[in-house]
Amino acid sequence: MKILVTGSTGQLGQELRRLAMQYDDYQFVFTNTDKLDLRDMPHVSDFIRYEGFDWIINAAAYTAVDKAEEDRENAFLVNSRAVFNMVQAAEWIGAKFIHISTDYVFDGKKAQPYTEQDTVNPLGIYAKSKAEGEQYVLKYNFGIVLRSSWLYSEYGNNFVKTMLTLAEKKQEISVVYDQVGTPTYALDLARMIMMIIEKHENEQLLIQPGLYHFSDEGVASWYDFAQAIFEYTGKEIKLFPIRTSQFPRPAPRPSFSVLDKAKIKSLYKVDIPHWRDSLKKALARLV
Ligand SMILES: NC(=O)c1ccc[n+]([C@@H]2O[C@H](COP(=O)([O-])OP(=O)(O)OC[C@H]3O[C@@H](n4cnc5c(N)ncnc54)[C@H](OP(=O)(O)O)[C@@H]3O)[C@@H](O)[C@H]2O)c1
Repeated sequence: MKILVTGSTGQLGQELRRLAMQYDDYQFVFTNTDKLDLRDMPHVSDFIRYEGFDWIINAAAYTAVDKAEEDRENAFLVNSRAVFNMVQAAEWIGAKFIHISTDYVFDGKKAQPYTEQDTVNPLGIYAKSKAEGEQYVLKYNFGIVLRSSWLYSEYGNNFVKTMLTLAEKKQEISVVYDQVGTPTYALDLARMIMMIIEKHENEQLLIQPGLYHFSDEGVASWYDFAQAIFEYTGKEIKLFPIRTSQFPRPAPRPSFSVLDKAKIKSLYKVDIPHWRDSLKKALARLV
C-alpha cells in the first residue's frame, strides 16, 4: 500500500510522518515544495501517474491567511487549481484522495456549530481558494474533504508557539475574544486520517466519499486558548481580551467557526479528545 503525503513539512504533514512509523506495511512518500511543487501541474500529474499511489493525503496548502490577500495567484494555484490537477491524476490511477480544508470557508454568522450541510461563504482570499479546492474534490465523488480548525502542533508556526515566544518577551499581551472556534492538535487530525485509511484497508469500513468535519472537542476564543497555554505552562503574563476591531488584520476571519462533528463521529465511532486535554499533551512535548 503506497501513500503520498503532500505538505510533509507542515504541521499536519509532520504529525503524519510521526504516525507513519507505526505502519510498517504501508509505504509512505512524503513531499513538500522542494520535492513536488504542486504549482508545477504537468510534473505533479506525471509523478502521481508514474508512482501509482493507493492513497493521496493532500496536507499541503498555501496557509498564509493574511499574505494571501496580496498573493491571490499563488493561493488559488496551490489551494484550488493544484487540487483539481491532483484529483484528476488520482482518478486516473484509481487512488483514494483525502483532502484537508478549513473552518474559514464559513462566514461565522451562524450561532450553532457548522454542519456539512451549511452553505459556505468564505471571507478572505485564503478561505475562497480553499472553498474552491473543496469543490473539485467533491465533484469527482471518490475522495474525502476533511474540514478542520485552528491547527497547532509542536511543528511549524502556530498560535501556541507564538504565545510561548511572546511570554518570553512581554509582560502583558492582548488577544481577541470575539473569534470563537476549536483549537485542534494536528496529531489528532493525523490520527483521524490514518483511521480512515486503516478501516478501509481492513475492510471494516470502506471509504465513503464526501465532506466531513473534524476538530478537537469543545469551544474556545483565541483569548481562552491563550489563557490555557499560559496556565498549563505556568507562564506569568498579563492577558487582556480585545475585540477583533482593535487588532485589524489584512484578511477577515469568521467570528464563529465551531464545526459540528456528528457525521464523522457516528460513522467512525471515534472518541475525539477535548482541546484542553490535547493542548496539555502537545505542551508536554513542546516545553
Ligand atoms: N493551520 C491551521 O490553523 C489550519 C486550520 C484549518 C485547516 N487547515 C488546513 O490543514 C492543512 C494542513 O495545514 P498545516 O497547518 O499543516 O499547514 P502548514 O504547516 O502551513 O504547512 C503547509 C505545507 O504545505 C506545503 N506547501 C505549500 N505550498 C506548496 C506548494 N506550492 N507545493 C507543495 N507543497 C506546498 C508546505 O511545504 P514547504 O514547507 O516546502 O513550503 C508545507 O509542507 C491545510 O490544508 C490547511 O489549509 C489549517
